[in-house]
Amino acid sequence: MTRQYLVAGNWKMNGSLKANAELLSGIAAQAATVADVELMVCPPSVYLDSVGRALSAGVALGAQNLSEQAKPGAFTGEVHGTMLVEFGCRYVLVGHSERRALYGETDQRVAEKYQTAQTLGLIPVLCIGETLEERESGATELVLSRQLDAVLDRCGIASFQSAVVAYEPVWAIGTGKTASREQAQAAHAFLRGLLAGRDAKIAGSTRLLYGGSCRPDNAHELFSCADIDGGLIGGASLKASDFLAIAAAAQSLSKA
Ligand code: 13P
Repeated sequence: MTRQYLVAGNWKMNGSLKANAELLSGIAAQAATVADVELMVCPPSVYLDSVGRALSAGVALGAQNLSEQAKPGAFTGEVHGTMLVEFGCRYVLVGHSERRALYGETDQRVAEKYQTAQTLGLIPVLCIGETLEERESGATELVLSRQLDAVLDRCGIASFQSAVVAYEPVWAIGTGKTASREQAQAAHAFLRGLLAGRDAKIAGSTRLLYGGSCRPDNAHELFSCADIDGGLIGGASLKASDFLAIAAAAQSLSKA
């Protein structure tokens, strides 16, 4: 099954009005050269409005987080999904490892966020991945299945018809240490197998992104793996030329 590549930039807690404008004009200048690839950017929430207005055609807007609450209300500091929709978001990251590790998001909470996102019409990008300690102790598959099953058990396999999964090994995030082609493909094949255990057709169409020190010099190798359908890019998404070079790797592999 052919899946369109998705290359998404997670800006994390970076940016300024000036830096964002420069980054977006750099992306706009070259976006047409990667027309077969879906591009998406996830700025910090305070910039969603201005970034949404400045985005070039064909680049989707995503948020980095949302509240799990079904309805807006007295939840100081939180952002509700209806607000993200109002500002043009199509996607929202849920369960990024930084949210899990630094802000105590449990598998359960992540599953709630995923469900709320979908209920409100947002496409959740479910981030999962093991720590170095977990990998070295041979627990990678256990951790991946625990994180994925929490969502599958709550929302069902049908929900993956409109969801994206991002495999982000924690030890590769921001470290410059990328998963090898073999490690990444093995994890992605494992995840697709878990989905296929519930529904093979849905598993075949769910996009699985790789994230963790993905750069222009390794993107092609990673994206050429059978079960890798794009990337969730951190550091390299803050530089238009790097982000576009990564998208160009996906473009060169597109079967459009
Ligand atoms: P880096 O690309 O900076 O390693 O970050 C990956 C990531 O966490 C994207 O969500």
